[in-house]
Amino acid sequence: MKIVSTIAPGKCILFGEHSVVYGYPAIAMAISLYSRCVIENIKEKKIQLVFKNYDKIFEFPDLKTFVLSVPSQFKQVSGCLKIFNEEHGVNFENIKLTLSSSLFPSSGLGSSASIAVALVSAISEFYEKNYDKYEISKIAFQMEKIIHGTPSGIDNTVCTHGNLIFYKKGEFSSLSFPNYLQILVSYTNIAHDTKRAIEAVRAFKNEKPDLSEKIFKEMGKIAETAEKQLLNGNLREIGNLMNENQKYLVELGVSNDTISEIVKIALRNGAYGSKLTGAGLGGCVISLGTKKELKKISRVLKERGFESFLINVDREGVKIESSK
Ligand code: MEV
Repeated sequence: MKIVSTIAPGKCILFGEHSVVYGYPAIAMAISLYSRCVIENIKEKKIQLVFKNYDKIFEFPDLKTFVLSVPSQFKQVSGCLKIFNEEHGVNFENIKLTLSSSLFPSSGLGSSASIAVALVSAISEFYEKNYDKYEISKIAFQMEKIIHGTPSGIDNTVCTHGNLIFYKKGEFSSLSFPNYLQILVSYTNIAHDTKRAIEAVRAFKNEKPDLSEKIFKEMGKIAETAEKQLLNGNLREIGNLMNENQKYLVELGVSNDTISEIVKIALRNGAYGSKLTGAGLGGCVISLGTKKELKKISRVLKERGFESFLINVDREGVKIESSK
């Protein structure tokens, strides 16, 4: 009986969410919170799917039934198996797939991309496709499109390759992660919906094409400047750029009162910069500062009912934990 286990990190976007969808550069970081996928053979001729986080177990006699009857919330997974079946010649039978994640869903921390990448990597290993990271990211991107509509591809790229990346139009370069970068992630207690946020920005773009283009361009310039400042280690300047980026996200309409409240608290208590991360309209806020200040911000936010944690970078990206 064969068993394969893989893990893939989550992510946070430091600069350029939304504008990246329209081809402008962005910077993202893989974080040390992971999704896991385990695939194993079972005796019965069926496909078993276990979602640990949702306490859900599904069983299907074959892939066709799986694709037709899995709840829409889990369409990404049936879509993935369909892609592997139709485009990569994999026949799924007598297997059990177990998915779990320490990333809370709809938080802006890349839970869907990280699950997609872990799943693709596990299937590739289990069925001896031995795909490299580029191929894994490409298939995970197909999965991301199933649930997010028109994503940029930054999430699957960073969750696959790890580290800090500068991303533009499907191309990326890895930046070496500076140890001085301390980032606090705070949850707004509002689940966000990436597809809805992307659609809202598209509606804004259609309504105000000149203004949106101007905003995207400015956000792109911020990401380019931020890349240089990250290399220089100029924390205050990186913080200022985050604040600038946040102003444009407000203009795009993807911030909200809760995000603004958290940003204000962070800045009032010594953060160099603070902004939403990911699609917005909920999800998480990131703040940059010294460890001492960020710990203080975390305490103040907790008193107001917002949970926060300091994040670490993941340097490896997706990996096979075990295969036997
Ligand atoms: C990515 O986490 C957030 C968005 O930029 C969408 C995308 O790039 O696919 C809003």
